[in-house]
Amino acid sequence: MRKTYSSLGAESLNLILIGFGNVGRALARILWEKIDRLRGLGLSINVTGIFKSNGGFVDSNGLMLGEILEKSEQHKSWVPGASPLSHIEELPCDVVVEMTPTNVRNGEPGVSFIRKALEEGKDVVTSNKGPLVVSMKSLLSLAERKGCFLLYEATVGAAIPIFTVAREFLRHDRIICVEGILNGTTNYILSRMSEDKVSFDDALREAQEMGYAEADPTYDVEGIDAACKLVILANGLMNMDKHLSDVEIEGISRVTPEMIELAEEDGYLVKHVAYLDGEKMEVAPRLVPKNSPLAVGGTFNVITLNTELSGPLTFIGKGAGPRETASAILADIITIAKKRGGIKSGEHVA
Ligand SMILES: NC(=O)c1ccc[n+]([C@@H]2O[C@H](COP(=O)([O-])OP(=O)(O)OC[C@H]3O[C@@H](n4cnc5c(N)ncnc54)[C@H](OP(=O)(O)O)[C@@H]3O)[C@@H](O)[C@H]2O)c1
Repeated sequence: MRKTYSSLGAESLNLILIGFGNVGRALARILWEKIDRLRGLGLSINVTGIFKSNGGFVDSNGLMLGEILEKSEQHKSWVPGASPLSHIEELPCDVVVEMTPTNVRNGEPGVSFIRKALEEGKDVVTSNKGPLVVSMKSLLSLAERKGCFLLYEATVGAAIPIFTVAREFLRHDRIICVEGILNGTTNYILSRMSEDKVSFDDALREAQEMGYAEADPTYDVEGIDAACKLVILANGLMNMDKHLSDVEIEGISRVTPEMIELAEEDGYLVKHVAYLDGEKMEVAPRLVPKNSPLAVGGTFNVITLNTELSGPLTFIGKGAGPRETASAILADIITIAKKRGGIKSGEHVA
């Protein structure tokens, strides 16, 4: 039987945040901004630890998030060298929020943090694809054995609530196939090449200057990021046990202006499409009709679920961005609180 939070109601939901970069800081800011709204729902959130690679902010009575965002390591709660692994046991904690960098080779350090949290009986929310791409099934079964939640809405499409929709609204239905555009950087590059006749190199440089693409863009441009998200969709939506090696991957670096022009003459756009059904998983440049729901521009992501009973359902949204990602994390935290009986159904935060 799942536990309920005895602390909810009069007291607080205690969180530990691991990772205080773009997403971790955005989450802290949103928790700070929405503090009264959340209390209005009966959800009083207390952050007892925030960890970076070189130490952590620690206060078992609850950290002052506004002060920490302002003063950073000058804040009195800063403990150089403090490790999340020991503090997960020691600090008051109901939910561990894991937001360390993605590592698709072995999932670390995220795998160790998530495993430790679940072994200690803590619920977990993560925005980190690495641990799920490497060992999603084993982490989900550990969560199951421990009666804990492991939620990961932010890992695919940031604020697009794809897993929540499937979990809450499509349990009676069957997802037959999934297709979408799962990487904002490649979509930006192809959109600029198509709409403004910019060259691949110039569009990539722009994406880097605007902070969409990494200094080393291989991960995005060669389709690895989209393939990782497809693995999480396969396992999370269709109960599969897939890995990165199961995905046929082709990046966009061989797409030429001539290809784009020829496609346009026939009423098509060249898009970097991720596709998944019971047999096939692939990420590759594809021709998409200009009036297709997949024909979204700029950095937008789109995901279509083709279902047995509900037909095609399409979701469009910003697939990245610290605030959008933090919003998905907070939605997962609220889901957990609700399922543990700590928040009333049917109310919303803002
Ligand atoms: N940014 C987005 O729009 C977005 C969207 C969806 C998903 N995500 C995913 O969310 C995660 C976080 O993204 P981000 O943009 O916030 O990354 P980031 O800015 O690089 O921040 C990563 C944080 O993790 C900390 N960290 C690294 N190793 C650690 C360790 N061993 N122990 C404790 N903390 C450690 C870093 O510490 P230091 O501060 O000391 O370096 C940093 O605070 C990534 O997995 C990313 O793929 C991001």
